[in-house]
Amino acid sequence: MKSPIKVLITGATGCLAYSLIPMVANGQVYGKDQPIILHLMARRVSILEGVVMELKDCAYPLVRDVVVTSDEEIAFRDVDFVFMLASMPRREGMQRKDLLEANVKICAQHGRALACYAKQTVKVLVGCNPTNTCALITAKYASSMIPAHNITALTRLDHNRTVHQLAVKHDVNVKRVSRVVVWGNHSNTQFPDVSNACIDGQPVPFEGHDNMLMDTVIKRGYAVLAARNNISALSAAKGAADHMRDWWTGTDDWVSMGVISDGNEYGVPEGLVYSFPVTIDRETKEWKVVDNIDPDERAVKLIKISADELVAEKQEALIVLQNL
Ligand code: LMR
Repeated sequence: MKSPIKVLITGATGCLAYSLIPMVANGQVYGKDQPIILHLMARRVSILEGVVMELKDCAYPLVRDVVVTSDEEIAFRDVDFVFMLASMPRREGMQRKDLLEANVKICAQHGRALACYAKQTVKVLVGCNPTNTCALITAKYASSMIPAHNITALTRLDHNRTVHQLAVKHDVNVKRVSRVVVWGNHSNTQFPDVSNACIDGQPVPFEGHDNMLMDTVIKRGYAVLAARNNISALSAAKGAADHMRDWWTGTDDWVSMGVISDGNEYGVPEGLVYSFPVTIDRETKEWKVVDNIDPDERAVKLIKISADELVAEKQEALIVLQNL
């Protein structure tokens, strides 16, 4: 029997966490033979006690223990994986970047906690908005101990949205779609790119950049928010679970992940967390940016627009944090 891994979910009283916890607990992320010790962190621990009662009542065989806390040291101590969800959520009428000031402060603090208490090999997925810049700030504040490679941002939600839209367009099951890419920021400048997409491994006829599909994907978060009067929770949790599962078990297809840029990929400046197509090695569990795509002129422009936005967000975040 494998020894248990420690998985921390911050913002554990939020609706995203409420959808994610069962996915982690039932073996969907780390495998059906991998025991787990769940660390749930939130400011209001009394609400978490209710979640713990429910978790117990689910009788998940893989869940060996649940630690509930608002204390950073207890939450982050020796963890193997972190889903960073603690944040102020978006409300109708807001852009994701309107949350920057509040959420980068939380990420800076949790970045420091990662450096102080987590395992050096910890794999972190930042899911709070604006996710790319929040992940970058987390990496900056964790950098004394944790490599920036280990801290990633959630754009799998946009990737999954794109896969679904393309499958609907061609009237096929989502499983038959591959080589979709979401480039850039998890914002209105993201570039859902289907120009390399395949169905059953064969390139789909490319009809220029599909503006309708792109528009639907880009506006999907807002459409869900308007319809539900709340942010996407189930689909965001599924994206987070898919992201972590693939990071842990490896990939056959390209997947989109917000990862630290090194300045040599598709004209994106160094030192941003940018969503690229990546593959993940099954043995090393390391991601690698797919480096043999040849974006056309329009794609190059769209990739740059999102990079420019991330440069501006980074500056804004650094100003917010200069006195921290
Ligand atoms: C989404 O894309 O649905 C999430 O990032 C939530 C939001 O604020 O849109």
